[in-house]
Amino acid sequence: PAVGSPHIHESARAQVAGRATYVDDMTELKGTLHAAPILSPVAHGRLRGVDPKAALDLPGVRGVVLAGDIPGDPVLATFVHDEPIFALDTVEHVGQVIGLVVADSALAARRAARQVRLDIEPLPALLDVRAAHAARSYVLPPVTVRRGEPEAALAASPHRLCGQLEVGGQEHFYLEGQVAYAIPLEQGQWHIHSSTQHPGEVQHWVAHALHLENSAVTVECRRMGGGFGGKETQAGHMAVWAALAARKLGRPVKLRLDRDDDFMITGKRHPFAYDWEVGFDDIGRITALKMAMLANCGFSADLSGPVADRAIFHSDNAYFLSDVEIASYRCKTNVQSHTAFRGFGGPQGVVAIEAIIGDIARHLGLDPLAVRQRNFYGVGERDVTHYQMKVEDNILEPLVNTLARSCGYAERRQRIAQWNADSPVVKRGLALTPVKFGISFTATFFNQAGALVHVFTDGSVQLNHGGTEMGQGLHTKIMQVVADELGVPFERVRVTATETGKVPNASATAASAGTDLNGRAAQYAARNIRDNLAAFVAGLDGCGAGAVRLRRGEVISPKATRSFDEVVKLAYANRIQLWSDGFYRTPKIHYDKVTLTGRPFYYFSYGAACSEVAIDTLTGESRVLAVDILHDVGTSINPAIDVGQIEGGFIQGMGWLTCEQLVWNEQGVLTTHAPSTYKIPATGDLPTRLAVALWPEANREDNVGGSKAVGEPPFMLAISVWEAIREAVAAAGGDASRLVAPATPEHVLRALGGVG
Ligand code: MTE
Ligand code: MOS
Repeated sequence: PAVGSPHIHESARAQVAGRATYVDDMTELKGTLHAAPILSPVAHGRLRGVDPKAALDLPGVRGVVLAGDIPGDPVLATFVHDEPIFALDTVEHVGQVIGLVVADSALAARRAARQVRLDIEPLPALLDVRAAHAARSYVLPPVTVRRGEPEAALAASPHRLCGQLEVGGQEHFYLEGQVAYAIPLEQGQWHIHSSTQHPGEVQHWVAHALHLENSAVTVECRRMGGGFGGKETQAGHMAVWAALAARKLGRPVKLRLDRDDDFMITGKRHPFAYDWEVGFDDIGRITALKMAMLANCGFSADLSGPVADRAIFHSDNAYFLSDVEIASYRCKTNVQSHTAFRGFGGPQGVVAIEAIIGDIARHLGLDPLAVRQRNFYGVGERDVTHYQMKVEDNILEPLVNTLARSCGYAERRQRIAQWNADSPVVKRGLALTPVKFGISFTATFFNQAGALVHVFTDGSVQLNHGGTEMGQGLHTKIMQVVADELGVPFERVRVTATETGKVPNASATAASAGTDLNGRAAQYAARNIRDNLAAFVAGLDGCGAGAVRLRRGEVISPKATRSFDEVVKLAYANRIQLWSDGFYRTPKIHYDKVTLTGRPFYYFSYGAACSEVAIDTLTGESRVLAVDILHDVGTSINPAIDVGQIEGGFIQGMGWLTCEQLVWNEQGVLTTHAPSTYKIPATGDLPTRLAVALWPEANREDNVGGSKAVGEPPFMLAISVWEAIREAVAAAGGDASRLVAPATPEHVLRALGGVG
C-alpha cells in the first residue's frame, strides 16, 4: 500500500529542477501590469494628503490606486472588520499600505511608489506592549480562564515565585514572498492566482472589496513556497490590492512584494510579555498559578483573538494546574498586524510554563525533568485541563521515559555537571521538554473539508481537495490515501491546483489539520467510486459487493481478476459514475467561545526533545550540540514527510528562540527587515546530532490512516534548546530566570550579569 511508505513529495523533482511553477513564474498574459505599494513612513499619524504627481510623471507608470478607488467596503472583510484595505484618514504603522503605483514593470512601479508625496501629521505611537496594556489599548477585549481558587492556593503554597518574561516575535521568512496575480475575465468575472493558505477567504475578500458576489471570483493556488501561517490571512491583502489595481486599469495586474517590503508590511508571530506568580510544594509540584499574558497584536485584530486563545489553551502544556488563572490581553500597538505562525499562539503558551517549571526546579535545586514529570497530567486522575477538557489520550509518561532512557538523559546530566566544573569559560546545558498540542481549529466551524476525485475512462485518477500545498507534503499524503482507497499505484493519482471553483468554502490549510480534514474528505470521495465499481463487478460476477477487492491496480472478485483500467472502461460503458465528492467534519468537538471551556480539540499530539547546548560565557554565543526527539504522529502516512516536518519545525522553533530577533526602533521602524539583519538558522547552525524517532502507536481517535497531525507540534520541541541554554546560564552562575527569548548573545550575557 501507498499509505505508510516514505513516498517522495509529489513536487520534489520539479522543485529541485526549478520546474515547479509559483505565481511569479507563470507566463504573463498580454498587457499585464505590475503594482507596488506606497508605504507609510510614520508609525501613527493623520493622513492629510497623497500627492502622486512625481510618481505619475515617471516613464512606464500607468496609474495610482488609493482608497477612493475601492468600489466596495474600504475595510477588509475580516471577522473583526477593523483593518482598512488602504490607510484612510490615519496611518497606524510604519509600512502600512496607503495605495499602489501601477506600471509596466515591477521595478518601475517600485521606484515610482517611493516618489509619491505623503502629508502625514504625526501622532503619539504605542510601540511597547506593556505601555499598550497600561493604556488599555486593545484590539479585542481581555479574556480570563480560571479554575479553583488560585489566590487562596497561592497563599497556602509552601513556596512561591514570581517573575516576568519577554518572548520575541518571528518573521515567517517563506522563501517565496507574498504574491498575487489578478485577471479580469469576461462578464464581471475574475480569476486570481494567489500564494495563499486560504483561497476561500481570498475569494471572499476580493469579492467584498470589488462589491461582487463570491461566485464572480475564482481563486487558485497550485503551491506556495512556504506559508508557515504568514499566508493564512495576509495573502489576501495582495490579492485585494492586485484586483483593485486590475479593476481600475482594466488589465491583469501582478503584485509581488520584494523582501524588504514584505518585512515592513506583513505581520509576524506575536511577541508576548508575561507576569506570573506560581506556588509549589517541596518536590516542585505546582499548587497555584496566576499569569497575565500580553500579546502584542499590532494595529489590527487579524487572527489575534484565536492566536491568544490558543496561547491560553496551551499555557498548561503537559501539566495539570489545579488552581489557576490565565488572563490574556490582546494589546494594540503601532506595528504590523501580527498573525498566524506555526503553533498559532501555542508556542507562546508552552514557553511560559516551561520557563516557570525550569525556574521552580532551579529554585529548589531539583532535576528539571523530575519536576516536569511530577506535574504531568495523570491517567484517570489530574486529567482535566484548565479549560475543562478531559485528556483522554495521555502518553506523556511512557513517551518521556522512553526518550529519557534512549538519549541517556541521567548520565549526560551528570557528565555535563562534571564538564561544567572543569570548564571555566564554555558551559553546557541539557534539557528535556515535552509537548502536548491540541489538534482542531478552535473555531469549530472551520473543522470541515471537501474533496473531489475523478476517475477518467483510461483509469487515471485526478484528485482535488480544499487544502493547499506549502511544502508540508499535504498533496502527497492525500494522493497516497486516495491511491490505496482505489487500489491503484500512487503514480496513477494526480493532484490539481487548489481552486475555489472545485471545492468551495474550504477552510484555511492551518492548525496542522490539513491531512486530517482533507485526507478524510478525499478518502470518502474515493470510497464512493470504489463502492460503485465493486457493486458493478458484483453484478457482473454474481457475488456480493463486499467480496470484491481493489488492490495493486486490479479488481478481484471470487470469480475473476480484472485490471482496474478494464473495469473502469466497462463501468463507463454501463453508465456508472466514476467521480465523486467527499465531505468530512471532525466529530466530538465543541466549546463555549465566551468562557473558553469545552472540548476544543479532537485529540492531542505529543512529543519530547532532549537538547544539549554549549554557551561561551565571554561572548554569550551558543551552539546546539545534540538533539534527540521522540514524536507522536500516530501511524505515519508518510514517515519521510513526517520526519521532515519534525526536523523543519524544530529548527524553525530553534530560530525563534535563539537567533531570530525583530528590532523596532523608537520611531517604530522595523530595522531588521532583510536577511542582512534578520538571522534565520543556517545549515551551519544545525546540531551535529539531530535524531528523530516516531512513537509507534496509532491515534486513539478515529483519524485518517490512524495518523496524527504533524505540522506545528514539533515547533515547540525547540523549547528544550532554550531551557538548555538557561541551564547553562545557571551553571555559569548567572540568573537563568532573567534570560528572555530569543537567547541572542546579548540576552545571554545579560542573564550572566555581564552587560546591563
Ligand atoms: N511545512 C512547510 N514545508 N512549509 C510551510 O509553510 N507550514 C506549517 C506546517 N509545515 C509549513 C510547513 C504550518 S504553520 C501549518 S499549520 C501546517 O504545516 C499546515 O499544513 P498541514 O495542515 O497540512 O500540516
Ligand atoms: Mo499554521 S500557523 O496554523 O498556518
